[in-house]
Amino acid sequence: MLNYSIFLTTAPTLVSYLEKEILSLGFKDFSPAGTGVKLVATFPDIMFLNLHLRTAHHIYLLVKEFNSENPEELYKNIYSVPWENFIANDGYISITSNVTSPTIRDSRYANLKCKDAIVDRLLEVSGRRPDSGSDRTKTVLYLYWKGKYGAIYIDTSGETLSRRSYRRIPLLAPLQEALAAAIIMATNWDLKTNFINPMCGSGTLAIEAALMALNRAPSIARKNFGFMHLKLFDAKIWQKMKSEAKQKENDKINGKIIATDINEKAIEASRKNAALAGVEKYIEFVTCDYSQTPVPPNAGVIVLNPAYGIRMGEISELEKLYGGIGDFFKQKCAGYTGYIFSASISLFKKIGLKPKRKIIFYNGDIDCRLYEYPLYIGTKRQSKL
Ligand SMILES: C[S@@+](CC[C@H](N)C(=O)[O-])C[C@H]1O[C@@H](n2cnc3c(N)ncnc32)[C@H](O)[C@@H]1O
Repeated sequence: MLNYSIFLTTAPTLVSYLEKEILSLGFKDFSPAGTGVKLVATFPDIMFLNLHLRTAHHIYLLVKEFNSENPEELYKNIYSVPWENFIANDGYISITSNVTSPTIRDSRYANLKCKDAIVDRLLEVSGRRPDSGSDRTKTVLYLYWKGKYGAIYIDTSGETLSRRSYRRIPLLAPLQEALAAAIIMATNWDLKTNFINPMCGSGTLAIEAALMALNRAPSIARKNFGFMHLKLFDAKIWQKMKSEAKQKENDKINGKIIATDINEKAIEASRKNAALAGVEKYIEFVTCDYSQTPVPPNAGVIVLNPAYGIRMGEISELEKLYGGIGDFFKQKCAGYTGYIFSASISLFKKIGLKPKRKIIFYNGDIDCRLYEYPLYIGTKRQSKL
C-alpha cells in the first residue's frame, strides 16, 4: 500500500495534546512541524486518524513539493501532478492557500492558477473538467507558497475536524471542540471518576468528556470528510473501520458527568447538543447557579469556564463571581481537583486559592490559562497524612 507524507494541524497550544493522541493511536514515527505534526501514513491510516483524533483540525496529504519563481512556473508544477489518480473528472474542487510571493499581489491569483492547472490537466487527460468554487464540502486543495518554495496538499478532512456534527445550537462564547478535548486531557481526568461542569454553556466540555469516557470516536457521526471525494476512497474499508470503532466503545460510564448552568436556554441547548452527539443519557443536566451544582462525594474533576470580560460581561461584575467560585471550591468540592479556564489574570486572583498548575491555551487568538486547584479535604498537610 502506498505511503503518503501527511501534515496534521491544530491550534498553536494544542500540538502536545495532538502528539499524545497520535502516539496512543499507535503511530510512533512523527515529528513536530509548526502548529502541527508530520508523519508518513497509508490512505486507510489517514481515514483512521480523521475518525479518531479529538484535537486535530485538518489532515493534509502532501501531493507535491516544488520551487516556483512566478505564477507561470506554479501552473507548470501543479499541472505536472497526475491529478487523474486523485480527483474524478466530474468532481468539484476548491482551493485554499497560504501564499506570499513577490511575483503576485493577490493570493487569489495563485489560487486561480492552481485551479486552472488542475482542471486543465483533467480536461487534457480525460476530456472533461471538474467544477470548482468555494464550497469546502468536496475536494479541498491547500496551496502553500512562500518565496520560491511551494507545496500542494489535499485536505483529507475538508471542514475542520474540530467542528463535530453535534453542536448545532451554540450560545455565546462556546469553546471549540478540539480545545475542549485538550482542556479535558490537560486535567488528567481518569475517565472513571466524576466530571462536573458548572457554567456549561452549550455543553461542549461535558459532551467531549462523555465521548472520551465512552471511548467513542469523535467524528463517528460525521457524514462528510474531504477524503471521501477522492478516487483513493474505499467505502467498504471505511464502513469496516467505523464498525470496529463502535465495537470498542464502552456501554457505560463509571463516574457521573454533571453539567449545570444558570441559564435555562443553555441547558436546553446542551441537552439538544448532547442528544445529537448521542450522549444525552450519560450526562445529568441541571438548571442552577454554579454554587448549587450537585457535587457527589466520591471525587473527580470539576471544570468551569466562566465569562472573562472580553467577549461576555464586564470585569467588575465578574470579580464577585470569581470570588464566589473560590468559596464554592472550598466549601463544596473537597477531594476534587478544580479547574478554571479563563483569560483574565486579575479575575484568577479573585478566586483566593493558590493554583498548583497554570496551563497555557489560546482560545482563538485570546491568551487563556487553565488553573488547577487541588481541593484538599481538611488542610493540605492533613490530606497527605
Ligand atoms: C463562557 S460561557 C461557557 C461556555 C461553554 N464552555 C461552552 O463551550 O459553551 C459561561 C456560562 O456561564 C453561565 N453563567 C453565568 N453566571 C452563572 C452563574 N452564576 N451560575 C451558573 N452559570 C452561570 C452563563 O449562562 C454561560 O452559559
